[in-house]
Amino acid sequence: MKRVARFLLALLASGVVLAWIATAVVERATRGRFEEDIAARAASVARGARPGLLGHWSRADSALAHLLDDIVRDERMMAAALCTERLELLARTADWPAQVGCAALGQKMAATWARVTEGGTTRVWGSVWPLPGGDVYVSAVPLVQREQHIGFLVLVHDLSFVERRAAQMRTVLLLAFGLLALGASVVTIVAARLSWRGFRKELLRFIQGESRRKEFLPIIRDVRELVERIAAEREADGQAAVWSPQRLKQTLVRHFPGEKVIVLANREPYLHDRGHDGVVRVLHPASGLVTAVEPVLRACSGVWVAHGSGSADREAVDRNDRVRVPPGAPSYWLRRVWLSPDEERGYYYGFANEGLWPLCHLAHTRPLFRSADYAAYAAVNRRFAEAVVREAESDDPVVLVQDYHFALAPRLIRERLPRATIISFWHIPWPYAERLGICPWRAELLEGLLGSSIVGLQTQLYCNNFLDSVDRYLEARIDREQNGVVQHGQLTLVRPYPISIAWPDDRANEAPAVEECRRAALAELGLGDGAILGVGVDRLDYTKGIEERLLAVERLLERFPAYNGRLTFVQLAAPTRSLIEHYRQLDQAVEKTAARINQRFGNSSYQPIRLLRAHHEPPSVYRYYRAADFCFVSSLHDGMNLVAKEFVAARDDERGVLILSQFTGAARELTEALVVNPYDLDESAAALASAIAMPPGEQRERMHAMRVFLSEFNVYRWAGRMLVDAARLRKKASRLGRAGAELARLAGFPR
Ligand code: F6P
Repeated sequence: MKRVARFLLALLASGVVLAWIATAVVERATRGRFEEDIAARAASVARGARPGLLGHWSRADSALAHLLDDIVRDERMMAAALCTERLELLARTADWPAQVGCAALGQKMAATWARVTEGGTTRVWGSVWPLPGGDVYVSAVPLVQREQHIGFLVLVHDLSFVERRAAQMRTVLLLAFGLLALGASVVTIVAARLSWRGFRKELLRFIQGESRRKEFLPIIRDVRELVERIAAEREADGQAAVWSPQRLKQTLVRHFPGEKVIVLANREPYLHDRGHDGVVRVLHPASGLVTAVEPVLRACSGVWVAHGSGSADREAVDRNDRVRVPPGAPSYWLRRVWLSPDEERGYYYGFANEGLWPLCHLAHTRPLFRSADYAAYAAVNRRFAEAVVREAESDDPVVLVQDYHFALAPRLIRERLPRATIISFWHIPWPYAERLGICPWRAELLEGLLGSSIVGLQTQLYCNNFLDSVDRYLEARIDREQNGVVQHGQLTLVRPYPISIAWPDDRANEAPAVEECRRAALAELGLGDGAILGVGVDRLDYTKGIEERLLAVERLLERFPAYNGRLTFVQLAAPTRSLIEHYRQLDQAVEKTAARINQRFGNSSYQPIRLLRAHHEPPSVYRYYRAADFCFVSSLHDGMNLVAKEFVAARDDERGVLILSQFTGAARELTEALVVNPYDLDESAAALASAIAMPPGEQRERMHAMRVFLSEFNVYRWAGRMLVDAARLRKKASRLGRAGAELARLAGFPR
């Protein structure tokens, strides 16, 4: 017996020594391999992002930051930056560690790596970089343009991932050698005691027995993990590719197979209207929200739940209040919800448009909050949430909640469908926390929105405002690192997703040639060939700065009398929210201003301002976009403003000038526009003069750059990025859920 014990001890000791040696060797090899992997990953990311980065390099515009943000969506990538060849910082992501500066990087690189290019090929530099919170791995990929080295893409990789893998490897090896030593001892002893025949029988039984299948389970799991990893990497590689309806659909099917997309928006994409002649026509409402979201649902199919507000809407639906749209080429359902006049007054005109709209826009109109309006808003949100639940065909649909009409709906939907993926998008600005405090129901609004998986806003500033508001008015944990809020154990991501338009834009592609549009528009207005034509397209809303726009045209005519008689500014103005007193006042004020300017500068055959107050269908709007010499967007405050993007999409001739208010979200992206402060009439008038005098070459250059930007940052990308982020969030939550269940099982808690 003593001999057996000694033998066992010796065997165990040699097992431990062997394990120790093997661990050191394997760890070294593993680290080396991971570093190679990181270098390869960095090179592949740089390859994918290169065309975009080089395209925006010389302009150093906000698109660079967008592209870097895209790169760091990879969960193992912590931050990214661009350094010029002179080691100056060009752009970076928000959480770029201050210690890793371009200059410090240059010093480190100089010490270990003299040249960035060798024999014409670029090499990836990399090194572990100690930071107070733990080591990271920094790699720098040289960027070369026309054989000239212009700078570096610098990536900070999460090294904890490598450390975790190494620790796992150590544990596995130690366990394996321990088990091996133990197994060897047992086998030796048993073998010594059993006859050869008996041993063989035992062995055969073991090999062929039930245990065999279980032994292979980890391998199957590994293969599955590998397949998932390859799929994820493929997606990361494809990030530079252009988003299209097809790619959006594939993304949806891959991440949410079999799940239905439900859009919840107050405004319907198609409206059945009975005209004065008794004929029912299908109208397209003047709404940026509809312009953007409709192509998304056309690509994904599903159902759009909206208020049925057309005078003939009830005649067009089936007995479930549904109708297939778009007319003529149906691809999804429109589900109409009916509201009584009282409900509409309290929810839409009252709380949404007399309360929230002026609250969120800095346009000097006082918000009005009434308890009865809030009660109607809450009740209508409940009715729409129920309609969404009824439209869901499973317990985990993808619900896209749109805008400030439905701040309470996400929580109500979550209560009924806890597994749903709810993505809420706030199309208008989010006010700073102190201003939100004006609203007596601010906490309820925030609580409601936090029922979402993702709250999307137009800009990072609005995300900061949202997080500050949560911080001030709710009991919730803010996760600044992930840009999210944890409340009731649920994480809601709060991220910027600047909205855009469909690209290619069918409305532009289907429009007649530019010369034909110009001929038709000039004829419609009774103008001669040499006319200078400017255009503005808006709902008649006080946030759009229409009066300021007309006053800027007046100032232009004062300063440059030569334009008098030649310049005509056409304002397409769609009446909107006309039950609200402020809107009625605005309507009158705009009309008065236009009349005054026309009287001052016009005569019986010439009017500098043409105010076309009516609903205009897309073909007519696009005709004016294509006919105009310039488009003037002068919003006093605007979440994005898609008119600016539509104008650019309409100009496939690469002509025309965009004059854009600095207070729009679009001004952060369309940096080649003439950006103005609409309150500064002299500045606006000067921009109008520059637009009129701009040489065709410069127009082409600016328009081309904006069109390239929109082709990349289109609405399919907007929706696709939100879906990908939501899928990652869901995966993470289900992994945590499984781990929690396993812990509970091990601890013996009942299920
Ligand atoms: O920007 C806010 C918004 O909801 C847009 O999305 C839309 O273009 C516009 O207001 C439409 O307003 P309404 O639906 O009240 O006509």
